[in-house]
Amino acid sequence: RKKVTIQHLHALRKSKTPIAMLTAYDFPTARACESYGVDITLVGDSLAQVCLGYDSTTRLTLDEMIHHCRAVSRGSKSPFLVADMPFGTYHTSDEDAVRNAVKMVREGRVEAVKVEGGEEISGVVRKLTAIGIPVMGHVGLLPQRHASLSGYRVQGKSSSSALSILQNALALQRAGAFSIVLEAIPHLLGTYITQRLDIPTIGIGAGPGTSGQVLVWDDVMGTWQGHKAKFVRRFGDVGGEVGRGVKGYIEGVRSGAFPDATEEGYEMDKGEWEKFL
Ligand code: KIV
Ligand code: NA
Repeated sequence: RKKVTIQHLHALRKSKTPIAMLTAYDFPTARACESYGVDITLVGDSLAQVCLGYDSTTRLTLDEMIHHCRAVSRGSKSPFLVADMPFGTYHTSDEDAVRNAVKMVREGRVEAVKVEGGEEISGVVRKLTAIGIPVMGHVGLLPQRHASLSGYRVQGKSSSSALSILQNALALQRAGAFSIVLEAIPHLLGTYITQRLDIPTIGIGAGPGTSGQVLVWDDVMGTWQGHKAKFVRRFGDVGGEVGRGVKGYIEGVRSGAFPDATEEGYEMDKGEWEKFL
């Protein structure tokens, strides 16, 4: 497969070919994205909940993120590789944001970073872009701000809220973002923002009118046991397969059906065995 670049993503947008982005958190999930032709692999900070068992993405540290980015990057060649900057790693100053983004590129080996927010973080986006770190924006529902948003709620339902999301998206584009994630907004707004921008939009709960779609790995595979958002579609039943595997294994051990001495065991030369005895 050919390496996916920002130029390639822009070409997909222009030709109205939907961009398929999917999260990955480790070597095997990255390999699956690689093997089956995902365009953008995202090491999302959803890592916090779906892999590490935290109750919020705000618990994730930079070191934890980088540890997983390294594993993903080892399994990823063709997809464009993006990772979320964890909560708090780009808010304290432009200098901190640059230092942390550089660390994610150099140690985590990702190609671009994603940051949540609008106009208020456009300075950071401009700075990172200027030094050659591509930035993906993220507007609408911002999981890193779930407390101040009073939960994980649809955004942009009122005209004033819709306008502020549009303005934030335009500000991110002006600041140099190469693409923007639109999360949990009305589908008409998702389509409208996509038409107003010159960069690809990637929707999650933003309707079919965006330049591409993204979902969380565990939601797609059916391995996430928690809340299912309205925008999630399960494309696999890996959870069911895991259940069959684990239950079958336990049953095999307890019943003595596993292992079989000859099929799954090793032989010893008869003479050697007699000497041993
Ligand atoms: O953390 C994440 O997985 C994300 C995507 C779902 C957009 O930010
Ligand atoms: Na995220």
